[in-house]
Amino acid sequence: MAHSYEIKVELTKDSQLAKVDFNNLKFGQILSDHMLVADYDDGEWKEVKIVPYANLSLSPATSALHYGQAIFEGIKAYKFEDGRVSIFRPDRNFDRFNKSAVRLEMPEVPREIFMDGLKKLIDIDRSFVPPTTGASLYIRPFMFGTEPALGVHPSKSYKFVIITGPVGAYYNKPLRVKVETYFTRAAAGGVGFSKNAGNYALSLYPTRLAQDEGFDQLIWTDAKEHKYIEEAGTANLVFMLGDTLITPGSETVLQGVTRHSIMDLAKSWGIKTETRDVSVQELIEGIETGKVSEAFAAGTAATLTPISEIGYEGKIYKLSDPATREFSNKVLDYLNQLRYGKVEDPFGWNFIVG
Ligand code: COI
Repeated sequence: MAHSYEIKVELTKDSQLAKVDFNNLKFGQILSDHMLVADYDDGEWKEVKIVPYANLSLSPATSALHYGQAIFEGIKAYKFEDGRVSIFRPDRNFDRFNKSAVRLEMPEVPREIFMDGLKKLIDIDRSFVPPTTGASLYIRPFMFGTEPALGVHPSKSYKFVIITGPVGAYYNKPLRVKVETYFTRAAAGGVGFSKNAGNYALSLYPTRLAQDEGFDQLIWTDAKEHKYIEEAGTANLVFMLGDTLITPGSETVLQGVTRHSIMDLAKSWGIKTETRDVSVQELIEGIETGKVSEAFAAGTAATLTPISEIGYEGKIYKLSDPATREFSNKVLDYLNQLRYGKVEDPFGWNFIVG
């Protein structure tokens, strides 16, 4: 039987809303007035509250800081022209969050806390959802082990928190990406599919090396042979190869909600789709022969960001002008119309807050 959790609310007396310039939003720099905090201890979720955004107080021995039990999600909410606020497919993020929790030996967060808490928090901070097309409210649920203990064992206590903030584009230009053939993001049997903090920490050094060479991001490859394409770390990868939309199917990549939605839309438009292994060789040959007509990164933060150039073994492979890409432009336009409530929602992807 579903447990019901009372969500206590304490509203801020010091709103930051007036300081927000909705016409000049970057990614992840502004945070809304409130946050949801739920504490887990002694085998159960105890207190769930929405409180003014504020620092947390933590013991220096907090287990997540030492052994990395830390997971998160990325979700977006949009404002319709009639003022209603809608969250895009949060049920998918809820499911993925708990898959990450299980893999990291953390407790699952009950639906009543995640989904009801999300809805209530977004409703309270609805004025932070940008009214501008192209902008949205980024929602960051996360959980970490809080037990102050230095032994290596699963934390006995956890904090689940949701913070939000109005954002613009994560990437504001087409990407130059480098195929990484030495460093590894994830191996079979590991945690690549989960959205845990460590996956992002390990990407920073190899990404910086690629940025020093003038690239924006990496294309990670498989851990064993570095022959198969995985994901970009900040987003999934999708290619139009001939008449087929393909995306890497490895168990080690994050099961992206945006990617999934794009593949579903393509299918519904009669386009062939494949989720399967994609070798670097197939991609490079496809670019050289003109078979690869489109390549893009797909993610909640990244939305759909075109890839303009791919670096591999010292050579740069240029792709078509993003402005001329038929599928990418059509699917992004449709997704935007759907998310901002400008077209019908035949798939039931919009979770209306009200
Ligand atoms: C998201 O797309 O929401 C993510 O969590 C990726 C992160 C690089 C911002």
